[in-house]
Amino acid sequence: MANPFTLGVASGEPLPDGVMLWTRLAVDPVHPDPKRPGGMAPRAVEVRWQLAEDERFTRNLRQGSIQALPVWAHSVHVRAAGLRPGADYFYRFRTGNQHSPTGRTRTADDPDSTRPVRFAVADCQRYEHGLYTAYRHLAGERPDVVFHVGDYIYELRESARTVRRLEPPRRETVTLHEYRNRHARYKSDPDLQAAHAAAPWVPVWDDHEVLDNYRGRGDGSAAFLKRRGAAYQAYYEHMPLRVRPRDGALQMYRRRTYGMIADFLALDTRQHRDATHMLGPAQEEWLLTRLRTSPVRWRILIQPLFFARRFVPGPPPNLRRDSWDGHPEQRARILAAGAPGLVVFSGDVHNAWAAELKSDFLDPAAATVGVEFVASAISSLPPATDVPAVLSANPHLRFFDGRRGYLSCTAGPTDLRVAYRAVDFVDVPGAPLRTAAEFVTEGSGLTFENASSK
Ligand SMILES: [Fe+2]
Repeated sequence: MANPFTLGVASGEPLPDGVMLWTRLAVDPVHPDPKRPGGMAPRAVEVRWQLAEDERFTRNLRQGSIQALPVWAHSVHVRAAGLRPGADYFYRFRTGNQHSPTGRTRTADDPDSTRPVRFAVADCQRYEHGLYTAYRHLAGERPDVVFHVGDYIYELRESARTVRRLEPPRRETVTLHEYRNRHARYKSDPDLQAAHAAAPWVPVWDDHEVLDNYRGRGDGSAAFLKRRGAAYQAYYEHMPLRVRPRDGALQMYRRRTYGMIADFLALDTRQHRDATHMLGPAQEEWLLTRLRTSPVRWRILIQPLFFARRFVPGPPPNLRRDSWDGHPEQRARILAAGAPGLVVFSGDVHNAWAAELKSDFLDPAAATVGVEFVASAISSLPPATDVPAVLSANPHLRFFDGRRGYLSCTAGPTDLRVAYRAVDFVDVPGAPLRTAAEFVTEGSGLTFENASSK
């Protein structure tokens, strides 16, 4: 068999005692025949896996084997358990005489730990728009965990603005085969593979993993539900998730806790949404309960959409209905939960912003009850924005940067620090890493640590 590890390796969903390991066998990643995804024959393939505390696989070696099945496009999801908390591990796969690259992963901290947590936040990686240079830099930082806040793929037909091209037919993805091939095209990128091999990921999705601006069950038609089910299945097949899709649904909202430091509350702002409710009643209840009762220092929302009010002067619409500005009552209930150490991470708008979250966004004297950090985009191009007008119309918005990039963060017992990493260009390789700004917060209010906008 030719090399079947063309899509790299990944790990994710860290717990104090375990982590998921992932790969997908594909000898020809974007294979045209729907009956042979990845160019693989339609039969089960045995895959061996190994995990150890050192890169030479000598200390505390664990191993096993698993069947890669055609029904899941020969993806494998290994549940590694019984591990030590807050510890690095290395893993690799083998099938026949073919070996995968080695990945590094890390378990979550012990429940009593007060050790600072280093994490990164990334999003929006439209393939045609640019190179994933930012991911190469992110991989070099080797954070404890990476959060992806959506638009991991774009279902759209090929962009008119291309740095690199999709393969034919270059049309909007609809079928399971098309979603699989779109994921495989993205996953073929070596910089994205490096970021997955450097740290465990906890991803949430936005709209483009399925369809631009969709919500919930869409128009309710059988055609849409079939399409959504195909998109969810392909997403699962390409991510180190703990749960499988069932009956066209995939449980995505979840909590990942790091010691006494951070409750990462990963939200699903798409699957359960209807015209009036961003999260759906069950997810909102789960979120509010945890916000009110969590014993840890930081309550951190991991989700795609701009959370602070953002009024855009000029002709209507002045508020983005697809975002939290379309669901102000539910946003107010979250802000009123009285959660100390509330921090929101978001993305979606393809520019970097920072915000103070107000108990009343229309009253400049209102209390600051949390902070928000908006990641730019790994590669997706930004819309035209009248930045000075938006900043002056929204005094709680404190920072803007228009370059591609990601966030590099440290949550500690006293403060939380966020560095805005940026690359100056994504159309040719080799952009160096910049730090656009660094913020420090103790939970209510932002301080510029370093405003060197180099
Ligand atoms: Fe996006």
